[in-house]
Parts: sequence; C-alpha cells; structure tokens
Amino acid sequence: MPPRNDAALTFLQSRRSRPAKTLVAPAPDRAALMPLLRAAARTPDHGKLEPWRFIVIEKPAMARLADLTGKAGERLGKSAEDIAKARSQFELGQLAVAVVEVQKASPKIPAIEQTYSAGAVCLALLNAALAAGWGANWLSGWASHDAEFCAEAFGLRPHERIAGLIHIATEASAPPERPRPDLDALTTWMDQ
Ligand SMILES: Cc1cc2nc3c(=O)[nH]c(=O)nc-3n(C[C@H](O)[C@H](O)[C@H](O)COP(=O)(O)O)c2cc1C
Repeated sequence: MPPRNDAALTFLQSRRSRPAKTLVAPAPDRAALMPLLRAAARTPDHGKLEPWRFIVIEKPAMARLADLTGKAGERLGKSAEDIAKARSQFELGQLAVAVVEVQKASPKIPAIEQTYSAGAVCLALLNAALAAGWGANWLSGWASHDAEFCAEAFGLRPHERIAGLIHIATEASAPPERPRPDLDALTTWMDQ
C-alpha cells in the first residue's frame, strides 16, 4: 500500500490557480524549475511514448511572442481587443512553460490517449508549481491553437501542438475561490 499522505490530500482538495495577469517577478530560475518539470514528466503515459515535451519561455522571449501574436491576430482577422488581450499574456508573462503534445506513431496507443497524457502533464506541472509555493495558471488562447503561429513562435512541427501554457511566478494577490462542481450531479455509482 502507498503510505497515506494527508498533506498531499489537503493540497489537492484546496489547490487553485492564480490568474496569470496577477503574477509578478520573481519567477523560478532554471534550478527551481527543474524539479517542477521532473514532477510533471512523472505522468501516466500509455506505452511509454513520452508524447510531450517542454519549451520554457523565459522573460526575454516574451516580447517576441507578443509581437508574433499581434501578427497572427492580423492574419486571422481578430479584433483589436482580441489581439490586445492575447498579446498581454506574453507582455505580462514572467515565465511560462509550453507543454507541447508530440504525437507518436503507434499501432497500439490511440492518438487521443496521447492527448490526454499531455493534458495530464499540464495539470501535474500546474500542481507542482502551486505545491512549491508559486502562483501558477494554465492558459491557452487562440494563438496557441494556430499552427502557423506555433511553428513561427515555438518551432513546432506538424505532429506537435500546444497542450497548455503554464505560467509560473510570484502571487501578488490571492483570488477568491470559485464555485466548484456539484459532485452528486456528476457522479454515478454503479454497484451492479
Ligand atoms: C486547457 C485549458 C486552457 C485554458 N485556457 C485559458 C485561457 O486561455 N485564459 C483563461 O483565462 N483561462 C484559461 N483556462 C482556465 C484557467 O486555467 C483557470 O484559471 C482555471 O480553470 C482555474 O481552475 P483552478 O482554480 O481549479 O486551478 C484554461 C484551462 C484549461 C484546462
């Protein structure tokens, strides 16, 4: 039996994200980030395909990504408001980890399971960052789903896509709790 870990359970039952736009410097340095990436990589992965990788977006790279977001927004015909909002993710960002889903050819493991695993990596990284005392937030945005932007901004190849941009930095203000799901409404107990 795995040992009971009440601290971990308490953390999992109370954890919540910190909105990226409220995060401030400092962000974790490379040494502080490595254990968080290690925790995230310890994620269920059917067939040991490792269908994901990390791109660490450090502060100096943020301005370039903001500009590329603006360029993508114009190409896609987004409104000035949408472009400004999408740019701000990078303009305000201190550090973010792009979790990249990397689809691997497999006769046995369906593509959707690789997608699920990449999503699980995002949550594992988010939780590791929160558990380490950082503010953290899982973002996406229309630019992150645009293949041309992803190729130019992150060098992604055709079988790769962004599963999540996990922003990690210092919490400036704690957000209010948000309503949580009604477990009774979404749980079915099957006893036969
Ligand atoms: C795949 C995915 C993408 C998301 N993208 C965004 C986003 O682009 N912008 C945003 O404001 N919230 C986004 N969210 C929601 C935030 O992560 C939000 O902070 C989160 O749902 C809060 O949940 P928590 O308090 O349980 O951690 C996204 C969530 C997921 C799962």
